[in-house]
Amino acid sequence: MKESQPSAIFLKDYKVPPFLIDKTELTFDLDEATTIVTSRLHMRRNPAFGKSTAPLVLDGGEDVKLIGVAMDDYSLPPEEYRISEGKLIITATADKFVFTCETLLEPQNNTRLEGLYRSSSMFCTQCEAEGFRHITYYLDRPDVMSVFTTTIIADQSRYPVLLSNGNEVERSKTDDGKTLVVWHDPFPKPAYLFALVAGDLAVKNDVFTTQSKRDVKLQIFTETHNIDKVDYAMEALKRSMRWDEEAYGREYDLDIFMIVAVDDFNMGAMENKGLNIFNSSCLLASPETTTDDSYLRVEAIVAHEYFHNWSGNRVTCRDWFQLSLKEGFTVFRDQTFSADMHSETVKRVEDVSFLKTAQFAEDAGPMAHPVRPASFIEISNFYTLTVYEKGAEIVRMIHTLLGKEKFRAGSDLYFNRHDGQAVTCDDFVAAMQDASGVDLTQFKRWYSQAGTPIVTVTDRFDAENGTYRLTMKQDTPATPGQPTKLPLHIPIRVGLLDELGNALSATVDNVNSEDHVLHLISNEQVFEFAGLTARPVPSLLRGFSAPVKLRYDYAPANLLLLMSADSDGFNRWSAAQQLAVNELNTLIKQSIDGETLSVNSQLAHGFKTLLSDASLDPAMVALVLALPSQAYLSELANPIYPAAIKQARQYLKAQLANTLAEDFERVYREHSISGEYQATAEDIAHRSLKNMALSYWVETKDETAHRIVLEQFQSANNMTDQFSALSIAVNSQHEKAAELLAAFYEQWKDEPLVVNKWLMLTASQEHDAALATVKGLMEHPAFDLKNPNKVRSVLGGFGQSMSGFHKEDGSGYRFLADQIILLNKRNPQIASRLCTPLTRWKKLQPELSVKMKAELERILSEELSKDVYEVVSKSLA
Ligand code: PHE
Ligand code: ZN
Repeated sequence: MKESQPSAIFLKDYKVPPFLIDKTELTFDLDEATTIVTSRLHMRRNPAFGKSTAPLVLDGGEDVKLIGVAMDDYSLPPEEYRISEGKLIITATADKFVFTCETLLEPQNNTRLEGLYRSSSMFCTQCEAEGFRHITYYLDRPDVMSVFTTTIIADQSRYPVLLSNGNEVERSKTDDGKTLVVWHDPFPKPAYLFALVAGDLAVKNDVFTTQSKRDVKLQIFTETHNIDKVDYAMEALKRSMRWDEEAYGREYDLDIFMIVAVDDFNMGAMENKGLNIFNSSCLLASPETTTDDSYLRVEAIVAHEYFHNWSGNRVTCRDWFQLSLKEGFTVFRDQTFSADMHSETVKRVEDVSFLKTAQFAEDAGPMAHPVRPASFIEISNFYTLTVYEKGAEIVRMIHTLLGKEKFRAGSDLYFNRHDGQAVTCDDFVAAMQDASGVDLTQFKRWYSQAGTPIVTVTDRFDAENGTYRLTMKQDTPATPGQPTKLPLHIPIRVGLLDELGNALSATVDNVNSEDHVLHLISNEQVFEFAGLTARPVPSLLRGFSAPVKLRYDYAPANLLLLMSADSDGFNRWSAAQQLAVNELNTLIKQSIDGETLSVNSQLAHGFKTLLSDASLDPAMVALVLALPSQAYLSELANPIYPAAIKQARQYLKAQLANTLAEDFERVYREHSISGEYQATAEDIAHRSLKNMALSYWVETKDETAHRIVLEQFQSANNMTDQFSALSIAVNSQHEKAAELLAAFYEQWKDEPLVVNKWLMLTASQEHDAALATVKGLMEHPAFDLKNPNKVRSVLGGFGQSMSGFHKEDGSGYRFLADQIILLNKRNPQIASRLCTPLTRWKKLQPELSVKMKAELERILSEELSKDVYEVVSKSLA
């Protein structure tokens, strides 16, 4: 254990910066061995801070070597400044001055992938959240916005492409024959949006004409061998630019927009001003190497980063507690964009299913925190599903409360009022409220209160006067640091159906409609629907109108009715999921009690109807057929019995497969499309249903099905079909599974992104030798501990395997803990993220829980990075 543990910082301690930086002039002299950075900061005291003689305190990192410091070109002798805990402190300064410093970096030794580092043959940067301080001493906080001019000097032959934010304004040769390029970004920005790239890169060019008829040059850069895989991203970028003009009135503001793909990246992508940097897994796409899911991900992430140009860059965050200001809003924007490009209901189901599996689990665990956290030890740990996904749900609820037009008025006001500023979540809500006149005072509690509310609904029909009453209760469980909770403003969209599934109109508060948004604002409330002649079936929480856990005791017959007839597509899916969860929970219980599994599946009836209805969107059918995942069942369970969950799910899948074998075979054949691959909603829908049907059909152990898996694997003309066949073979323990895995690797060993998918599938297998397999993968030539994508594939995949990770003797936990300890120093962000499965220890069955806890304690006894320390210590608290 360290002598002193890292301490938390608090939102309530926020103070405006004592100094401002009007202009930032940087010079990078790039070289493999050492890079010299010269920074000239035009600074002055911040009038908003009040009259003061506060010292100048600049942020820096241990990996930055300070060469020299000057004030207005007077070199400071060492006694006139000091460095303490990474900070550079100068006690006496003028009110206005130019601060200069020179630092020395070793990017090739930067394994944290923050600041300036090397990826393959290039130099690149990552500065969000606090990476800029690993480049030079600075006021590294988002409310210090500055105009950047960046000079890059490098060897022409190895680094012909030299990029930074803004526009290229100068290019020349130095005396020793190197290239010198100057970039200028006219928009003031915080340091976290700074970027630099240098390399021998290929480029794809395009042009976008904005709504005001300005031509913007678009460029995507990759290493030469990948440039044939950027066409899809380029088209997605143009669609995003157009959409933001139409949906939000936001036009792009510079003359050039660049994207660079890098192989080594901690996250998905980064919205640096005018120069987005992407994890290559989130940018590159080709039919042969990329699955449909990944195509959609590329489109969504290209859009997300582009949308940040307004929601994040033009209007940025005052401090990192406000992270959801940009992330929640931008996720909401990218979700809406994808819905507009494809199917709204499919997109909603996918997003909600992810939220309910992963964000709900986070909100119920030791790292639970409000969307606007009140404190943190390491900000990198707060790029969470809560800040991103639940944050997007908050914005979506505002959209529901205001309606489309007023929401747009609110966003216009927000952008106009705060352009060029660093603001807070309160400012966002204030703009929405001011533009709409809708009171959001109570609603704002969603930002400060952690935990997933439970909404319990009971009902009563009064035949005499034709009224139907819904009684709703809300209750949010305690979370760390928040023992008691206040009632939230929860919008609950509700419709009513008759016994045949027809929509009923009813009157609530004098409004007659088939669809009502109820405002649950108290702990308990009654809503009355008038004008009914018989007891209706309620369709509750349509479109998942609030991120809550809904409890209502549906009869299976009513779930079947909703599943086949509700006018809300989302709730049709939701009813099927509920039915499946109920049956699976029965089976899980039988398994825990050591009984023989058996269930009289109602779901089979529902599936049968679905499979023979040609009018339905095949993508929706595929989603309904997808049984709740092991991860989602684990989120619902308390305690979690991993083996029982696995067994129950396998049993139900086989059961359904046997009952509906002929339907699955027919649907498989009906949706097998031929022709050239296209990533359109329609084709994706056919492939998803076809492959879902095959995954069932193969469970019948039918010989034809088994042969078809092999045929599809061999003859597929696209990665979606080939990889689906492979996954189906692996998950169904096909006798040829091992052979196919080997063949797949052989075929794709030179395509790193495909190899990553192979690593993930291999690592997540459910079989007795799962742990040994993963240990083998870590020694495989395709593995590389330095590459976050590979680490995520293997160790992230392993964390999903019930048989490997949750081995009875705890050896799976021990193995993961060993890897976390290994990565803790090398790449703290990645190490910290790998801790997630271990944070669930309190919910596990007792025998496993103690073993998992012991591994957390073992990690805590090491000398830890702030990142890992925060997650592990909070998990044990
Ligand atoms: N801001 C990035 C996004 O959401 C995510 C990111 C955070 C990337 C930190 C790198 C580092 O678009
Ligand atoms: Zn983002």
